[in-house]
Amino acid sequence: MVSATIVDEHSMFVAQPIEWTDRGVVMLDQRRLPAEEVHYTYTDYREVAAAIREMVIRGAPAIGVAAAMGAALGVLHSPAKTIEALRSEFSQMCDVLAKTRPTAVDLFWALERMKRRFSELTTQSADLAKIRAGMVAEAKQIHLEKRATDEAIGRFGAEFMPRDGQVMTQCNAGALATGGIGTALGVIRVAIEQGSKLHVLVPETRPYLQGARLTAWELHKGGIPLTLITDNMVGHFLRTGKVGAIVTGADRIAANGDTANKIGTYQIAVLAKENNIPFYIAAPVSTFDLSIPDGAHIPIEERSAAEVTHLQGVRIAPDVHAAHPAFDVTPARYIAAIFTERGVARAPYNQSLSGLSSAAHSASAL
Ligand code: MRU
Repeated sequence: MVSATIVDEHSMFVAQPIEWTDRGVVMLDQRRLPAEEVHYTYTDYREVAAAIREMVIRGAPAIGVAAAMGAALGVLHSPAKTIEALRSEFSQMCDVLAKTRPTAVDLFWALERMKRRFSELTTQSADLAKIRAGMVAEAKQIHLEKRATDEAIGRFGAEFMPRDGQVMTQCNAGALATGGIGTALGVIRVAIEQGSKLHVLVPETRPYLQGARLTAWELHKGGIPLTLITDNMVGHFLRTGKVGAIVTGADRIAANGDTANKIGTYQIAVLAKENNIPFYIAAPVSTFDLSIPDGAHIPIEERSAAEVTHLQGVRIAPDVHAAHPAFDVTPARYIAAIFTERGVARAPYNQSLSGLSSAAHSASAL
């Protein structure tokens, strides 16, 4: 098992989007940031599923942790009196949690892991209390591992950041998105802790404004210098702004390295190549989906058009058709390297990703 690094070791602020407590699963409502810091405590797995769907919690690794905790909550509070009854309820709980958001593979990875643990526990014992406790322990362990994973990604990626200069990110791949120190923002954070002087350019990330609302909030609270820009300033800053590197997170990485991330990432990667700026992805191995050959097979979530026609409930466009693909796919040829907890993958990605993925099966520590 992976040993967890304690996030509190960081002197900088680290947001806590989700915690398992004796009262239930506590989540920070990310929809209300930065105006208000409101927490909810959930005791029903259906509430956790709704929280994922409605973006109380978001970001690929964080929704994986939430799904695992949702499954644990479901087992903990199930009225089942026999293993057979619990098994059939558990399978239904996993289906409800799986149907929340389609793109981020971490969600499905976490549910698969909870299913594996359920099957081990029910094979080992018929004691329902033991099974319940085992499932809670597994969800907590997944959270701890995500924290350790972020730290390792940060250490590998920090080497690629400039010693002094500007870096750009997209969306929010920080603590709010993972439950650890973040993937892309974890890389930036570790580089700064190691002495680099970085200034972060943060595109606002329309339509849901994860950049403006969440990344700007996290960096500002952590004392990391930033400049918020609108999405249509990206080309200007990449051409004129002396940007040394770009680092973003990922929701799903296909076998050939094609990567789905928040809508707008693809155009940043293309503009990066045009301007000779390295474009990096920072993501855990659990984000790999080696069952699909390329990005054309990644399901892209379509969200509500109201998130485009309205800003915080205020209509900004006439009542017309609006599109809202929530993610896009960046072809592997635009990606200079992928930072993971097990090392750095480079092209050809078919080889490097499968190497890191099989290392995952044999490695017992990060
Ligand atoms: O729709 P969201 O906010 O869940 O999208 C999040 C992203 O696209 C992140 O960049 C990605 O999940 C990586 S998070 C470490």
